[in-house]
Amino acid sequence: MTEDPPDLGQLKTDLCAAIDVAASIDALEAVRVHALGKQGEVTRLLKTLGGMTPEERKAEGPKINGLRADIAEAIESKKVAIEADELEARLASESLDMSLPPRETPRGSVHPVSQVMDELAEIFADLGFAVATGPEIEDDWHNFTALNIPESHPARAEHDTFYFPEEAGEDGKTMLLRTHTSPVQIRTMMNEEPPIRIIAPGRTYRSDSDATHTPMFHQVEGLVIDRDITMGHLKWTLETFVKAFFERDDIVLRLRPSYFPFTEPSAEVDVGYSLKDGKRIIGGDPNAEEGGWMEILGSGMVNRRVIEACGLDPDEWQGFAFGCGIDRLAMLKYGMDDLRAFFDGDQRWLDHYGFSALDVPTLSAGVGA
Ligand code: PHE
Repeated sequence: MTEDPPDLGQLKTDLCAAIDVAASIDALEAVRVHALGKQGEVTRLLKTLGGMTPEERKAEGPKINGLRADIAEAIESKKVAIEADELEARLASESLDMSLPPRETPRGSVHPVSQVMDELAEIFADLGFAVATGPEIEDDWHNFTALNIPESHPARAEHDTFYFPEEAGEDGKTMLLRTHTSPVQIRTMMNEEPPIRIIAPGRTYRSDSDATHTPMFHQVEGLVIDRDITMGHLKWTLETFVKAFFERDDIVLRLRPSYFPFTEPSAEVDVGYSLKDGKRIIGGDPNAEEGGWMEILGSGMVNRRVIEACGLDPDEWQGFAFGCGIDRLAMLKYGMDDLRAFFDGDQRWLDHYGFSALDVPTLSAGVGA
């Protein structure tokens, strides 16, 4: 005995009415479960197909499947309509109050030393230099010996070096806090194939302390190793750098003969300054009244003994090197007068001299106002 065929038309009318009145996604989902879920009414009808004779199935199958498709479609279009309504309601209720004052948030700033390091990296990157680094705890071979500063040389004492106790070094090495960034020259020449173009900014240490010296300070080393490098390249590079850094074209450089064990010949580099509104500024005519020269860095052609110590052939490879105090560059450019303030961590000083994180200059753009 077969059941009376269910009234599909009635079922469809009932379900469509339920879909129609569903006012939320949740309500619609309840209707979907009621109709098409595992125990749903349409699902139950579909299951009856299995118990029918082939003829019955042929007649009933398309009707029941058709009903299922119609209901699924009605649910889907209702869902789209509800979502559109909900979005509209949200847009209408949410608004942006343009009159609210911005929230005060404490803001950090970039320390002038970091700023100047970033500026150096940017300016030298434009000239094809990479940034190299080395350890602050060095051994005396990298810091002195390989740089042609022999055991007995007064420079080792002159530097007022912070030495570690003897036990600190492996294999009998004497360890120290690097007294300059020049050991990075050695490490770079030993680890990289020439041609080499690097700058190496970083911390350096000497036992010194007054208004212009702190036990920890910052230097930047420059090194170029290639074939046929001359002092002309050195001078052009420094001139280009100094003009970009101080953002003035009227800066003159003076190379003064000097002595460093690791460069030969060596030159100390002075920049011309002039007086403007009672203040010394880098640039202008150093020979004018109140003008003059200020030493900013040491430089020279890399001594062939240094090139040899790094395992390179000095008849094939030469180059120049320079070393410069970063803190002093910052003071000259941004007008601070006491070096010690750099390392006091005084928030007011940082608020005054600190930089926005986006204030990085390039050769062409400058630092901006
Ligand atoms: N290392 C030297 C110093 O600390 C500076 C320097 C570097 C000079 C490279 C010449 C070449 O004073």
